Amino acid sequence: MDMNVFIQGIPKAELHLHIEGTLAPETLFRIAERNGIRIKFDSVDALRQAYRFDNLQSFLDIYYEGAGVLQNETDFYELTWEYLLKAKDQNIRHVEIFFDPQTHTERGIVFETVVNGIYHALSDGARNLNISFCLIMCFLRHLPESEAMETLSQALDFRDKITGVGLDSSESGHPPSKFIRVFEKARKEGFLTVAHAGEEGPAEYIWEAIKDLKVQRIDHGVRALEDKSLINELKRRQIPLTICPLSNIKLCVFKNMQEHSFKKLFDQGLCVTVNSDDPAYFGGYVVENYLALQNAFQLTRKDITQLAINSFNAAFISQDKKAIFI
Ligand code: ADE
Ligand code: ZN
Repeated sequence: MDMNVFIQGIPKAELHLHIEGTLAPETLFRIAERNGIRIKFDSVDALRQAYRFDNLQSFLDIYYEGAGVLQNETDFYELTWEYLLKAKDQNIRHVEIFFDPQTHTERGIVFETVVNGIYHALSDGARNLNISFCLIMCFLRHLPESEAMETLSQALDFRDKITGVGLDSSESGHPPSKFIRVFEKARKEGFLTVAHAGEEGPAEYIWEAIKDLKVQRIDHGVRALEDKSLINELKRRQIPLTICPLSNIKLCVFKNMQEHSFKKLFDQGLCVTVNSDDPAYFGGYVVENYLALQNAFQLTRKDITQLAINSFNAAFISQDKKAIFI
């Protein structure tokens, strides 16, 4: 069996996926037309041409603009359902999906519209595609702490649908410590917690995410290598890193895949997982991310199996459920 087939076939969990980052250009055009929204690109090809990024911010500018076509529950449902079909194709058995409510509520879309559209698709996916899920609401870190607190208040009525909270958007200049009180309240209210840290920002931001926000997982964390004592802590506590290799290359965090810190982190025994981040923008879903690593580092079947096991170990699911997959 060739490696492609092996990677495709092994059961996997996806733990780092922004649902707004699955908006394929074709879907974006279709939804824009339906909602009577004009977009500044003439065609799908012209839009795709714009997917060349120098850094995280240059991507986020286009990503937030694209999300502007999403207006009603049906749009959020369709977006999520299309992703789930793709996940099914790749034998992804469990998904933990990020969404950015502030990207939508800032434009006047009602919080409930966003959550209900995504949640209904996820529920249908659990029933009809056998993909289990949880939903993680991210705060936009470039916005003030007070707005994150307001967003958290809105989420309290949806505690049955939202499992956890996270932190995303422009990292540099917006350390995790800016959100200490928001995460403290979120934990008290029973939400699980994660945060993007050490994607573009320094290792110090990973420390803050662990110590100040007390998160259970780090999203990205690829700059952890810069601090030996941090590596020791991540290893000792087996705090998972949800790594997104194609994203890191597209956003110029590393020059090429051979220079990615993944292998050094993995070889040191950290709980590393492989994910797709914003697959419609970065040229690949989970399988393509595994394949890119396999090509760059000649990963063995044992390595691939360990990464798939890590994905379930790091998931927000019960030990009983983990035992089904591992
Ligand atoms: N939002 C969507 N993708 C993101 C990323 N890679 N980093 C931070 N925020 C994001
Ligand atoms: Zn991300």
